[in-house]
Amino acid sequence: MARAGGELALHERPDDLVTDTKSSPTDVVTEMDRATEELLVSRILAQRPDDGILGEEGGERAGSSGIRWVLDPIDGTTNYLYGLPIWAVSVAAECDGVVVAGVVEAPALGRRYLAARGFGAWEERGGQRRRLLASGGTTLAEAMVSTGFAYSSERRARQAEDLRGVAPLVRDIRRLGAASIDLAWVGAGYVDAYFESGLHAWDVAAGGLIAEEAGAVVRLLPSSLDGGDITLATAPGIHEALRDVLRGLVDST
Ligand code: IPD
Ligand code: CA
Repeated sequence: MARAGGELALHERPDDLVTDTKSSPTDVVTEMDRATEELLVSRILAQRPDDGILGEEGGERAGSSGIRWVLDPIDGTTNYLYGLPIWAVSVAAECDGVVVAGVVEAPALGRRYLAARGFGAWEERGGQRRRLLASGGTTLAEAMVSTGFAYSSERRARQAEDLRGVAPLVRDIRRLGAASIDLAWVGAGYVDAYFESGLHAWDVAAGGLIAEEAGAVVRLLPSSLDGGDITLATAPGIHEALRDVLRGLVDST
């Protein structure tokens, strides 16, 4: 299902992509976000009509089976809009509220990330599959840390303040533009940690499980933003250090 969604978004993207805005002028949704979610939803309902669905572009559908699908049809819409390859179709399945399976399908990168609770996490790339293991880093000063920004400019200003506190303490910073890929890449060891406040369930469901199943520590920390807890995913050896830095920044506001 995620593969079909990825193929649709990759191959059917028109050059003159039609866009609309949501929560702010920078919060863009494209016709392909909507078309991809429709494809995912129709496939789920065809096979599992009693399941619930939470999709970024379609709101909530109650189910009766105890299974709920959490979908971000295109995570990284701004990258997608600009033709940058870091975007993904994120599909997760929850059983009684616990994420049990997730896929982050990144077709423009030729990579797919998969996890099932208790069975590990995997990267598929170039016809090869490898098991993921978060990095063994233990020092914040040698950590590559990725982060992200919200669409609201007030929130972004606050997030930029937090980043000012973190940047001098770490090896380097990345802003990749797709939370699901940030999380999967903590699992893959391409970054040592990722933090962002104010994410939604569809941003985190699949990627969070992939990171966890790769041995990363994934936690929510209170933030200074209203209802905007910080999602923190790190290699196990730097979790406490980065958590303490972020807590210190939040406490000082
Ligand atoms: C966004 C991306 C981005 C993150 C934002 C998310 P979207 O999701 O994951 O990297 O910084 O917080 O909203 O809008 O592209 O699905
Ligand atoms: Ca999205």
